[in-house]
This record gives sequence, C-alpha cells and structure tokens, in this order.
Amino acid sequence: MASRQSAAELIILLRSAETQPRKIKLKQPIVIAIDGTSASGKSTNSKLVSKALGFVYVDTGAMYRTLGWYCLQKHVDIHDDKAVAVACRKWKTSLECIETKSHLRAVHLLVDGYYPDKEIRTAEVSAATSLIAAIPKVRDWMKKKQRECIQFGDLVMEGRDIGTNVFPETDYKFYLDAHLDERTKRRTADGVNENLAARDQRDSQRASAPLMIALGAKVINNSHMSSEQTSGLILAEIQKRLAEGRG
Ligand code: DC
Repeated sequence: MASRQSAAELIILLRSAETQPRKIKLKQPIVIAIDGTSASGKSTNSKLVSKALGFVYVDTGAMYRTLGWYCLQKHVDIHDDKAVAVACRKWKTSLECIETKSHLRAVHLLVDGYYPDKEIRTAEVSAATSLIAAIPKVRDWMKKKQRECIQFGDLVMEGRDIGTNVFPETDYKFYLDAHLDERTKRRTADGVNENLAARDQRDSQRASAPLMIALGAKVINNSHMSSEQTSGLILAEIQKRLAEGRG
C-alpha cells in the first residue's frame, strides 16, 4: 500500500536511519546566457557552445519572432500594445525539445503545433518583432516560457535580456558585439537587408528589459574574430568559472 508522508516525517525517517544528518544538495541545471546586439554572432556561437557542452540550445529571439509573425498572420495591429498583449495571452503554444540533423538539441516554441522556422526570418518579421518585443506584457509572458525551458536540462540561451532579466542568477553570462559595418556585412551575406542600427536602438532604449550588459558578463567584441575563436573564448571562460566553483 502506498503511504503518503509529509516532508517533516521524511526528514525524521532519514535522520533515524543514519547516525549523521545528511546534507542533500540537489543539482540545479546550468544556464549559459548569451546576449548581444543583432548579428553579433549569438546564434552561431551559442550553437557551437551547446554542441561542445552537450547542452540544450534556446533561441529566445525565435520566440519573439514567432509572436511577431503570428500577429502579422492574424492581422493583429502590431502598433496596438493591448491587441498584441491579448493575442499573446490567448495564442496556443507548446515547447518541444528536438534534435537536429547536425545533433544539436534545441527548444522550439510551437504555435498551433507548428514551428515557423523559415517564415520568421524575413525583414518584415524582424521589424514587427522589434516593436512587439517592447511590450511589457509580452516580455512577462516570454520570460515565464523561457524559464520553463529548464525542464529540458542544462541550457545555452541566447537573447537580449537573458543575463539581466530571464536568468539573472546564472554565473555564466556573455555579451557579444561587433562593429555595425561588420554586422551589416554578416546580415547581407545571409541575404537579409535590414536597418540594424534602428533595431539596436529600439532594443536598447525600450523601457522594459532593454538590451544591456549584465553585471559580471564577459564582453566579447568579435569584429575581427572567427566563430571558432569566439566560441573557444566562451568555452574557456565557462571552464574558468566552473573551476572557481561558481554556480
Ligand atoms: O535575436 P533576434 O534578431 O532573432 O531577435 C529578434 C528580436 O527580438 C530583436 O529585435 C530583439 C527581440 N528580442 C528581445 O527583445 N529579447 C530577447 N531575449 C530576444 C530577442
């Protein structure tokens, strides 16, 4: 017969079975927070770090983009904060952890069971996303969802406010940046033409969780660095902080 015991009863049982009281430390999943400006190499480097460590990759920009895309699809006025907040409260979403062909484990936010992988990468969706990402109710919703990703284990999470707002308690914070010319070149090479300066300005100047360097973050300007060098630097810093016994 299954018996139900209170926490206090369990502690008494544990104590009576041992001569010495035991300290049980439950291991918390580790979160590596990688924030930074648009096209600063967050995605490429976060994926490389995820693979090297075997951690699950979370692209929080994709979550905001999915809402931006959804609003455009459903003709929700992206300039009407209330309408967007209502859509965000009501849309039907789920989180899933998938393994890609290149053996990257990644979290996707599905809407109505669908992940709009390609659709969210257009310049139109980028511009809409930057607007809806400034709405406090949207940011509250996203923060809650992003914290739920811990259910999948150790994470490498990229975004704009991961170290400052979503997981401020983590000891593994990074901030990537590169000169505007270099970042524009990278986006053009990806076939996307967009005004990065305007988007950076909106992302850094919004009142709610703006893009900024988290306290204790390692800042890396990778204008003249390859992704191997950038991810190598991140991994070395993680190793150093782990050795220091942080986290
Ligand atoms: O990283 P990205 O370019 O895919 O992000 C798309 C937009 O979402 C960008 O304008 C900033 C916003 N964003 C945010 O405000 N907070 C995050 N954690 C991630 C993205």
